[in-house]
Amino acid sequence: MGKRFYGDLQLGILGGGQLGRMFIQGTINYNVDIHILDPDKNAPSRDICKNFVQGALDDFDTVYQFGKDLDMLTIEIEKVNVDALEKLEEEGVIVYPQARVIRLIQDKGLQKQFFKQNDIPTAAFQLVKNLHEETEDLPPLPFIQKLRKDGYDGRGVKRIAKAADLEEAFSEPSLIEEWIDFEQEIAVIVARNDDGETATFPMVEMGFNVEANLVEFLISPSVLSFEVQQKAEELARKIADDLQIVGLLAVEMFLTKEGEILVNELAPRPHNSGHHTIEGNFISQFEQHMRAIFNLPLGNTEARTNAVMINLLGEEGYEGPALYEGVEEVMTMDGVYIHLYGKKFTRPFRKMGHVCIVNDDREVAIEKARKVQEILKVKA
Ligand SMILES: Nc1ncnc2c1ncn2[C@@H]1O[C@H](COP(=O)(O)OP(=O)(O)O)[C@@H](O)[C@H]1O
Ligand SMILES: [Mg+2]
Repeated sequence: MGKRFYGDLQLGILGGGQLGRMFIQGTINYNVDIHILDPDKNAPSRDICKNFVQGALDDFDTVYQFGKDLDMLTIEIEKVNVDALEKLEEEGVIVYPQARVIRLIQDKGLQKQFFKQNDIPTAAFQLVKNLHEETEDLPPLPFIQKLRKDGYDGRGVKRIAKAADLEEAFSEPSLIEEWIDFEQEIAVIVARNDDGETATFPMVEMGFNVEANLVEFLISPSVLSFEVQQKAEELARKIADDLQIVGLLAVEMFLTKEGEILVNELAPRPHNSGHHTIEGNFISQFEQHMRAIFNLPLGNTEARTNAVMINLLGEEGYEGPALYEGVEEVMTMDGVYIHLYGKKFTRPFRKMGHVCIVNDDREVAIEKARKVQEILKVKA
């Protein structure tokens, strides 16, 4: 029987930021009816969805009321009320990724325990209730402290390098992790549909902005060895199978100087490390997520060409209604795709957009990306 593509399936997304917005952009040709819940009345998806509801993602009643008349729910952020999702699942609403997967991934401590139980290589760790009260058995400095819950974009992560840093440490329940002096940060996005079919996007290399504490630069496909790429992609597939997830799973990893791969963290949804797929690959991560949750054939993930993605972050020292500098100059460059997320207000290091640069010559793509980074600024 033919599919209806898809006018009578009502899909809700918890979160209407840039990921929700790009999901809508990436699936609009399939005519999915998309409902968005987001606390921000100016959320980037607000004006392009079928139905926008303003409300708190972590409130039981808000999430339950939002979801109860929909056919399916998905997420663009993990910080959502999972109890409400479990109740909705019991009542027959399809929730992909599944509520139990979101519950696990919400908590970096549970994630690490899951890695351990499933023989997934990861940096050594321990869990602490309050680091300030913990004096014994701490790993040698430097180490890294991560909030178990609610950290994002580097905001829940602290490097503890010297004794004095301990005073600045988080006091919330957290994860203490061995510092990895990695060679390269890498990521693989894998999709898994309800039939258990999986497909990985080619591994990407990430560059880190130390000041902002987040990834600002990404190159696809990787030029690291075939063995490393194959190992990383196999690992991503194994994790998706271990979790039995339906939907996308982004797997952030470290490649160590010894050539070992360690899994850093997971995101059960479209991810910053897959934005380049919109222009750089045969299928975008957003369409792939839709295919996975609707149990459709997964698309060809291969790279069409080299793609470099840079995050457009709010310039340091500016806070207020956003002003964009250099857009027109960048528009004169070939193979350069600007994505502005439509966020009204900027603040230092806020993700305001991204730019994807494609070129058949990897070095040219990187050079252009550097140039875009110099020209394009978000100020107030
Ligand atoms: N064990 C570690 N050793 C060295 N650097 C790390 C370690 N864990 C995280 N980092 C760095 O901090 C960044 C943010 O940490 P991550 O766990 O990914 O948190 P977030 O949720 O903010 O993305 C990583 O992308 C990586 O660059
Ligand atoms: Mg991360």
